[in-house]
Amino acid sequence: NNHKSDSRGALIVLEGLDRSGKTLQSRKLISYLEGLSYSVESWRFPDRNTGVGQMISSYLANKSELDDHAIHLLFSANRWEKRSLMENKLRSGTTLIVDRYSFSGVAFSSAKGLDIEWCKAPEMGLLAPDLVLYLDIPPEKAAERGGYGGERYEQLEFQRKVARSYQILHDASWKTIDACLPIEDVEKQLQEVVLDCVTTCQKGKPLSQLWS
Ligand code: TYD
Repeated sequence: NNHKSDSRGALIVLEGLDRSGKTLQSRKLISYLEGLSYSVESWRFPDRNTGVGQMISSYLANKSELDDHAIHLLFSANRWEKRSLMENKLRSGTTLIVDRYSFSGVAFSSAKGLDIEWCKAPEMGLLAPDLVLYLDIPPEKAAERGGYGGERYEQLEFQRKVARSYQILHDASWKTIDACLPIEDVEKQLQEVVLDCVTTCQKGKPLSQLWS
């Protein structure tokens, strides 16, 4: 029973409304873990570099129209096309800090009125995160932050619905952080839970799949 061979990287996901600070905090987490000599990579979904990602990008920029179900499946496909690489990285010991994942997929699509179970189905079998960090911010506060970039979903009324969807998806395993706190305080809280998670995965916590 060689525990060392089961050692792996952690799959850590940041979720939250647009402008909640996920991108900044994921950058900070990367330098924190690098500073501790961990192997770590920054990932994000949508990954706009793939063929599917380019279709998503054009949709978000309002340059193309798609049925709500169709765009939902594209977001999901965009995660599936990265699944095997993701597993390989984790098994080879690299921790992934992922800016948005399946929970964004379900929260944003169900905010449009799609059935939540229907939204979850195509995510089944993707790797389950070891840790979900939810950066919690009232939609009004997020809207005040330097304004939205003008993409399709960056509107207060819609973000209110997304916040409600996240509340439904939220379970006890998520770590919620008050994203209105000063940047350094958010950073400190994240570091603590992330380090704990990375250590647990290093000790050989098994990988699991959504939704479990
Ligand atoms: P993102 O690239 O994180 O936004 P930004 O360009 O502002 O950094 O995500 C783009 C948008 O896509 C965001 O509003 C959330 C939405 N989204 C979905 O609707 N479904 C998904 O599966 C994902 C990953 C994101």
